[in-house]
Amino acid sequence: MNSNILAVIEKICVLGGEQYGERGWRNPIRQDTELILSALVTAAQPKIILELGTGYGLSTCYLALGDSEAIIHTIEFDSAVAEQAAKHFQQAGISARIQQWVCDSSEAIALIPQEIPIPDLVFVDHAKAHYKEDVSAIISRSYGKEILLIADNVEDRKQELAEFLEWMPSVALNLTIISTKCGLLVARLKAGK
Ligand SMILES: C[S@@+](CC[C@H](N)C(=O)[O-])C[C@H]1O[C@@H](n2cnc3c(N)ncnc32)[C@H](O)[C@@H]1O
Repeated sequence: MNSNILAVIEKICVLGGEQYGERGWRNPIRQDTELILSALVTAAQPKIILELGTGYGLSTCYLALGDSEAIIHTIEFDSAVAEQAAKHFQQAGISARIQQWVCDSSEAIALIPQEIPIPDLVFVDHAKAHYKEDVSAIISRSYGKEILLIADNVEDRKQELAEFLEWMPSVALNLTIISTKCGLLVARLKAGK
């Protein structure tokens, strides 16, 4: 285990909590979600992970902890925040396997599969209004590949995610919601379904 990553995690977990734009909050994943994220990565053994919403990089570190081979593509549209996250990844010794995309999620998703490989696992933790549209775009660009989807805030931001949650069963082979403080949705998606 890389001890640098644990030191960086300790540093990052106190960051965030500020508001960006009118409705978004840059809250990092809660403590009860951290190890679940790592365990899901360990169980799924994804080669490619796609994360929507890097923030300061806390969830990225836990995704990285789950499997030392996985390549993580992570998207953040706030360049100052992405720059800070890049420093954290450097300090944690994981930057060689993190590819940061500093742009809107929809722009990065449009790069699948040419510049961003089709992901095996997707973690969504960005603007709630974009969950449905972005997951739908990922599915349609993934050409039949099965994807493990993990989505944060499906309980505490339930109202904002109502349309996403209603749509989910139509694209999921199976779906569960882990009752963390924020609610963590885990679903196996059949691309193209
Ligand atoms: C909840 S925070 C992410 C926290 C991070 N996952 C963690 O656990 O440390 C959401 C982040 O997504 C970014 N964001 C929101 N909407 C976005 C979009 N459409 N495209 C790219 N980044 C977005 C925000 O700037 C913010 O930093």
